[in-house]
Amino acid sequence: MTAPIMKFGRSDKAKLSTIQTERQAFLKSQRSHGLTGSVTAPGDKSISHRSLIFGALAEGVTAIQGLLEGEDVLATAQAMRQLGAKVRREDNDLWHVAGCGARGLQSPEKPIDFGNSGTGARLIIGALAPYALTAELTGDASLSKRPMGRVLDPLRKMGVTTDPSAQNHLPLTLTGQETLSPLSYTLPVPSAQVKSALLLAGLNIAGTTEIIEPEPTRDHTENMIRAFGGDLSVTENKDGHRVITLQGPLHLKASDVCVPGDPSSAAFPIVAALLTPGSDVTVKNVLLNPLRSGLYKTLQEMGADITFQNIREEAGEQVADLRARASTLQAVDVPADRAPSMIDEYPILAIAAATAQGRTMMRGLKELRVKESDRLDAMARGLEACGVTVEEGEDWLAVTGAHALPGGAKIASYMDHRIAMSFLTLGLISDAPITVDGADMIATSFPSYRETMRALGADIEPTQP
Ligand code: S3P
Repeated sequence: MTAPIMKFGRSDKAKLSTIQTERQAFLKSQRSHGLTGSVTAPGDKSISHRSLIFGALAEGVTAIQGLLEGEDVLATAQAMRQLGAKVRREDNDLWHVAGCGARGLQSPEKPIDFGNSGTGARLIIGALAPYALTAELTGDASLSKRPMGRVLDPLRKMGVTTDPSAQNHLPLTLTGQETLSPLSYTLPVPSAQVKSALLLAGLNIAGTTEIIEPEPTRDHTENMIRAFGGDLSVTENKDGHRVITLQGPLHLKASDVCVPGDPSSAAFPIVAALLTPGSDVTVKNVLLNPLRSGLYKTLQEMGADITFQNIREEAGEQVADLRARASTLQAVDVPADRAPSMIDEYPILAIAAATAQGRTMMRGLKELRVKESDRLDAMARGLEACGVTVEEGEDWLAVTGAHALPGGAKIASYMDHRIAMSFLTLGLISDAPITVDGADMIATSFPSYRETMRALGADIEPTQP
């Protein structure tokens, strides 16, 4: 489960195929009874990436507590080291980032490898844009297929260039510029990564950077700019769209970060508890940011017995301990405008829907086609293989719940951590075990997944193909 971050160069196809075969661990889950106990959610992935990036851009030393030590975040830590920050893990699990300060990032000597991480890649592309430096950027097979035009198009308008010049995916070489023109930009897709990339660029651009968000997305970048001493305004325009404005350049000062637990990871033990008869599970320290909580709202609408205990504020974010007990779920219609607040949670919601009474309709899912895999297709194919009734549209998924869940399938995870964890959850309540391939990808976001689930009593074991 702790495979090292793989490296490969620009057109090294031979090496790429070795990576694909090396990364083929299989996990099998089978019927389990009464999950019980209390576990702590791993650190939030979005906040972890940002704490390293902001720490590296700021002046002074940022201490980070609770950083997610998953492969994606470790790739970001390595990237920030390559750009000149001193990033160190102390003995007591605390991370220290000695920042480069105003205009302090340096040219990396070697290519920066973002591994599987779209967040690391897109945010750091934005941060690099206003620097007169050149960086070769690479990623794994999945990341190399994901669209980068969504960040590169606006950055090119501002003056950034790439080699190849029109390339909209990794690998590519990026050349920034110290005198980028500031931009007013309406997000064409609801993407916190695009918004964040442009705000990170704006920190070092003289003038007003304005981002208009027709659909609100997670606001950790805005919160962190403020926490690091930067000023920015968030207002609503006459169309009711969020407008985020900052006046660059902004000089950031180091600020300690306490990373709350990841609601996207907590979703796996929580849904496992809801679906497995006789379960009573608490996941402690889960981030409750309203722009991340769509899944929990939806599950409660479905009749899930989830209670939020010990609600408190930590480092400017609300967190709580979530207690989930086995529940009978009813199908619901999930509105399209809820998608940004639960964009990573549709795979596990589709599993919950497979047990609910009725047909659950999930709309507005176009973005799922460009995640670590085409998640709409991966879920539809996997559910079909497990004997679940599923319909797939261009941007929607409908799942009809059933009492009888045959399981017994070998699921292609398409090297996607959330697809793997979702089908392992289904195996816990299916008649026959479910095996998933590419299970080592789980280490990108939830390195302690198997230990956590086993501590609760879930039967999840390594297996052979
Ligand atoms: C993230 C934003 C989301 C999400 C991803 C993390 C972030 O992507 O899917 O896992 O940290 O900003 P998009 O912003 O592209 O939707």
